[in-house]
Amino acid sequence: MVSLLCFHIPLFFLSFRLVSASHLANQSHLYDLVQPHAEVFPRKISRRSCSPSPPPLPSNCFPAVGFSTPSDVPASTDGWWCDPADEFGFLGFSYEITYCQSLAQLQTDFANMRKTFNSRYVRLYGACDNEGFYNDIITAAWNNSLGVHALVWCGFSNCNLMQPRFNALSSILHSNPMGPFVTRVVQMGTEPLFDDVITPQALTTQVNNAKQNLSDIGINVTVSELAYGYQERAGSQAVLNAIDSINAHMLPFFAGDATTGQNAWPDVMSDLQYFIDNGGGKKIYFDENGWPSTDQGIANIKPQSPTAVASVGNEQAYYRLLDQRCEFLKNVVGGGVGWFAHIYTDSQEPGYGIYTTSGTLKFPFAPRTNC
Ligand SMILES: *[C@@H]1O[C@H](CO)[C@@H](O)[C@H](O)[C@H]1NC(C)=O
Ligand SMILES: *[C@@H]1O[C@H](CO)[C@@H](O)[C@H](O)[C@H]1NC(C)=O
Ligand SMILES: *[C@@H]1O[C@H](CO)[C@@H](O)[C@H](O)[C@H]1NC(C)=O
Ligand SMILES: *[C@@H]1O[C@H](CO)[C@@H](O)[C@H](O)[C@H]1NC(C)=O
Repeated sequence: MVSLLCFHIPLFFLSFRLVSASHLANQSHLYDLVQPHAEVFPRKISRRSCSPSPPPLPSNCFPAVGFSTPSDVPASTDGWWCDPADEFGFLGFSYEITYCQSLAQLQTDFANMRKTFNSRYVRLYGACDNEGFYNDIITAAWNNSLGVHALVWCGFSNCNLMQPRFNALSSILHSNPMGPFVTRVVQMGTEPLFDDVITPQALTTQVNNAKQNLSDIGINVTVSELAYGYQERAGSQAVLNAIDSINAHMLPFFAGDATTGQNAWPDVMSDLQYFIDNGGGKKIYFDENGWPSTDQGIANIKPQSPTAVASVGNEQAYYRLLDQRCEFLKNVVGGGVGWFAHIYTDSQEPGYGIYTTSGTLKFPFAPRTNC
């Protein structure tokens, strides 16, 4: 740990040089997007310990590392959630629910996310329409002190299912007493603009209706989307204005100039800059975020760049890059960027898993939750 931290501080300066040298953001621009924060600059380092530990984060709020949900559901969510400004670094995993996992499987997976990786949230992906399924998500999340970014998914061809799926989710959130204590935000669609399954105007209406519907239980609403999804559809600013937080897809493997995971920073910065410039200072998450370990025989993993390399080493290198940039990401407007790893296992989305289909880790994975 100590030697790792020794390594991180010089890299932080390297990141400034890399970014300022690129065409994506000049140095004065970059400083604008970093909130003033003393810890941006290295503190005095003792030769013995090599590096100061970051100040501990509060652990008396949900779902802080170290916090355990009480046995009784509190009367109100006042003071329940951790401050978004303390939620940066690694937050947890994307997890696909299209398989309608059993409660026992959800318990096992959520417990592992929490205990093995210090996850604070799970970001749901896909959809399970079994009646009451979200009650099982709530039980497993509550029992493992894991917050949830829920998802109302339209599908790939149209958004006709958004309304009935939202209604089903809302009914559970309003009837299950633990629902508002584990569900931090509801994502209205995942790449609905990129997939062109709904207009920005109609999506804005859906977001505003959902916000109104969930306001009595204090649950926020967002859209899970690529920067490019917003950029390519006229009128998307209304969506960005309506959402409570920015749940950004960060998939630099698909950038036109992609090469390796380790060299992905300029592409990450470019999309992050778009959200900083157009996101009104809202909290930013990288929620569908990763780099594939293979593109062989996988229909939906086709890079645009001939030099983009999919490999286990590059998947690992991309997460290491984000881990090394923890101090930078922590200081981005909105309380710092918190990131999810997409996705928990190759069984859910081939090539992107942290685990293989046989349940082994592809590489050591222990990203920082504080810096
Ligand atoms: C640097 O960025 C700032 C802020 O966007 C801009 O005003 C300025 O013109 C840029 N300078 C150069 C040299 O690109
Ligand atoms: C909560 O999860 C633990 C494993 O983390 C499991 O042993 C226990 O049975 C679960 N409790 C309930 C009420 O499901
Ligand atoms: C929210 O939506 C649910 C499900 O459609 C509905 O039962 C409920 O009446 C709505 N609540 C509000 C406050 O709009
Ligand atoms: C909900 O979003 C607002 C911004 O619209 C933010 O200020 C607030 O902290 C969020 N609430 C929770 C519980 O995350």
